[in-house]
Order: sequence, then structure tokens, then C-alpha cells
Amino acid sequence: MSGNWSIDSWREKAAEQQPVYKDKEALKRVEEKLVTLPPLVFAGEARNLHRQLAEVAGGKAFLLQGGDCAESFAEFGAMKIRDTFRVLLQMSVTLTFAGSLPVVKMGRMAGQFAKPRSSGIETKNGISLPSYRGDNINGLEFTADSREPDPERMIQAYFQSAATLNLLRAFAQGGYADLHRVHGWNLDFVHDSPLTERYEQLAAQIDKSLSFMAACGITSEKTPEIVRQTEFYTCHEALLLPYEQGLTRVDSTTGHYYDCSAHFLWIGARTRQLDGAQIEFARGIHNPVGLKCSPDMDGETLLQLVDILNPQNDPGRLTLITRMGAAHVAEKLPPLLRALKKEGKNVVWVCDPMHGNIIKSNSGFKTRRFDDIMVEIKEFFAAHKTEGTHPGGIHLELTGQNVTECIGGALKIADADLSSRYHTHCDPRLNAHQSLELAFLVADELHSLHNAKTKENFLGEIERR
Ligand code: PEP
Ligand code: CO
Repeated sequence: MSGNWSIDSWREKAAEQQPVYKDKEALKRVEEKLVTLPPLVFAGEARNLHRQLAEVAGGKAFLLQGGDCAESFAEFGAMKIRDTFRVLLQMSVTLTFAGSLPVVKMGRMAGQFAKPRSSGIETKNGISLPSYRGDNINGLEFTADSREPDPERMIQAYFQSAATLNLLRAFAQGGYADLHRVHGWNLDFVHDSPLTERYEQLAAQIDKSLSFMAACGITSEKTPEIVRQTEFYTCHEALLLPYEQGLTRVDSTTGHYYDCSAHFLWIGARTRQLDGAQIEFARGIHNPVGLKCSPDMDGETLLQLVDILNPQNDPGRLTLITRMGAAHVAEKLPPLLRALKKEGKNVVWVCDPMHGNIIKSNSGFKTRRFDDIMVEIKEFFAAHKTEGTHPGGIHLELTGQNVTECIGGALKIADADLSSRYHTHCDPRLNAHQSLELAFLVADELHSLHNAKTKENFLGEIERR
């Protein structure tokens, strides 16, 4: 996969969206320190994920990717991690039940700090300062001091990621994710909505299935891996390359390089230049990787990128995360699906319905309409149905907390409500209620897909007889 690649061969390429550190010595010290720190994930875990993504590529599993646009140092805490984990679990059981498919769960967590920006400079009241690039680079506060990139922030991001991952592992393996607790995951503020009722019905069905399974001898005690534990993976954008290089290790089992800052890394829409540093770095690591595809991506360029990132055409290695926008997806997505299908490329197709649907509200907030998000998801499913490809998953910016950042949903968050609890450090996120509501709508799509497949198999079977 990695001819002429070395851990730092990206340094010979142009790297977009990198901070300019004034103190080069301090940067060097931090880079040297990162190399000495324990890896956050293990290569074996990344390989498990790779295998599960191969199932997604073949239409036998579904990927749920979600979390903050940007994690922050200030809003770091156990409750916040628990709430996001919990809403992802709720969404995952909803999708599993509807689609009769395993759901691969991945948090934009434990490392999702660095942000690409449309401009390197932000100007307010005639004062221009470097743009905020994420807490592992500089501070959000609009002062010269805070906006100065500080390499030490990478170390803080590492330790925050380690603590986050520690709790996520405990939640996933220690009993919190036990399916018997499905009622208990209900979010405190979701009580009096139609969604609560739908969720409770689902939970009751799960209870029934669990009782049936228990009668057959499948219990939490006997088969913890089925009922009591879950696998949960982490991912973030591979943007800040000194950090990613600093956490890249050679796996002693295979001799391959893995970026041990997360299980899965993706390349953003602004840093996907064919000869750019991020693509160079990503092609040599053996983690499963992702690539964002925006409306300006054409089939030919995509094929070139696919060949660079996945020369062996290995299913599960490469996930294409399309983020076209509700207005463009019906026109822009099908040609890409066709181009790759024609060449027999094995990829996972995932819909990010967030990044093509950003608007500025009348009250001045950067927001997204719940309805636009749903339109993009529906068009994504429709395009895959027409082209005969697999709609492999969804990639969302969400939080388990009761924020007001996206407009709409059953609780009808309006423009005027945005100011009440708008906490994001970057893009607006779905709150817990909107996330679960969206999961039910996606579940309906998966359910029809499942029924169509079952019917197809049934008819095929009759024909064969
Ligand atoms: C993101 O996922 O936060 C992001 C910046 O996405 P994109 O690269 O697709 O714009
Ligand atoms: Co974002």
C-alpha cells in the first residue's frame, strides 16, 4: 500500500490548514514528547473495525458515526461523554432493530479537535486575528494571546482524549451498554414527547426479545459479548499532522504503521489534494480511513484518490463520506456511485448530511435545518437504490445534551430559540432529541431496504427452484 512512504513523507508535500507555530523549538519538544506517550488505541482494534467496515461495504452492517464538530477543553466532563455515548447507543438499537443489521458505532470523540477554516484570519470590529482552529491548536476567545497557536495544546488534547477513551471503554465494556438497560438510557429531558413513546415501544420489544433469548440460554452472564458489552470506536479528522505523526506506531504483530490516535481517521473536504500532505500521510497508515466528498468532487478525481488510498481495493479500508447538501445530492452523488461501481471499487458509502447544509439564520447564528438534513439522507438512500450500491451509514454532528443549535425537529426549535443554549465551538449539532428522531426516520429507510432485500431473496429462491 505504501511505496516510498515514511512516517514523515507528508512533510515534503504541501499541507493545507496547518497552524503556523512561532516557537519552532517548542513544537519540536512537543513532537518528541508525543512519540514517547502510550498509544491511545491498539492496531488489533483498528483491524477489528476494518473487518466490520468490510461488512458494511458488502451491505451486511450499517455505520453510525457521530459526535461533536469540535471537542473542547472547557466542556470536558463525564456527563457530557456519557450523554453522547448514550444517545449513540439509543440510535444504534433503533437502527439495528429496524434494519436487522449490526450497527458499527463510532464516536467523533477522543481526538476530534482540529478544524479546517474557510479563512485563516478572522476580523471583528476592525481587528484581525488568526482564526480559531480547534482547542488542540489555539483558543476560541478573540484575543491575540488566545489565538496564537500553542503546540503544548496537543499534549492537553492527548490527555483529554486518553481520559475520554478510558470512560468510553468502561461504558462499552462495563455494563452500561447492557441491552437490559435500554429503558434506562432514556434521556432525562425527552420525557414528554411523542418520541418517548416510540422509544419505549422499541425498548419493550427489545425486552421481549431478550426474555426469549434468555429462555434459549443467551443471557448477559453467559454471553456478555452479545448482550452486555458493545464495541465502540473513535474517529477524528486527520488534519493536524504533527499530532497524527506523533501518535503513529509500528504494530509489532504485522510490522505495519497505525495511527494510534484513533481507530479511524478521515481526510476533510478541504485537505484532499491529490499531492497534498494529508493524503500522503493517510495512504501509509493501516487504519481504516475516510475521505469526505463535497459537491466539487468529480468521478475522475475520486477514482484517483481511491487508488492512492486503497490500491488493493480492500473492502473496509476506505469509507467515502459524502456531504453534498440537500440541494445538490440528487445531482452530485449518482455520478460518483456510478463511476466507482463501474470500476468495481470496494468502498463504504456514508452520508454526512451536516456539512452541505449550513446556513446563517436570521438571528445571525450558523445553523442547520432538521428538514434539510433529512432530505439529504433520503436522497442518499434513493440514489443508492437506483444505482444498486449500498447506503452504508450516516455521519452526524450531534451531542447528547439539550442544546439549541439546529432548527426544527419534532420540538420545533425556532430561530429565536437558538440563542438559548447554543454551545458549539464550531458547527451546530443535533441535540439528543433531534438525534433520536433522526434515527427513527433513518430506521424507516433501513426497514424498507431490509424488506426489499428479503423480498428479492425470496423471489430469487422461488426462481431457482
Ligand atoms: C467536519 O467534519 O467537521 C468537517 C469540517 O467536514 P468537511 O471536511 O466535510 O467540511
Ligand atoms: Co463540522
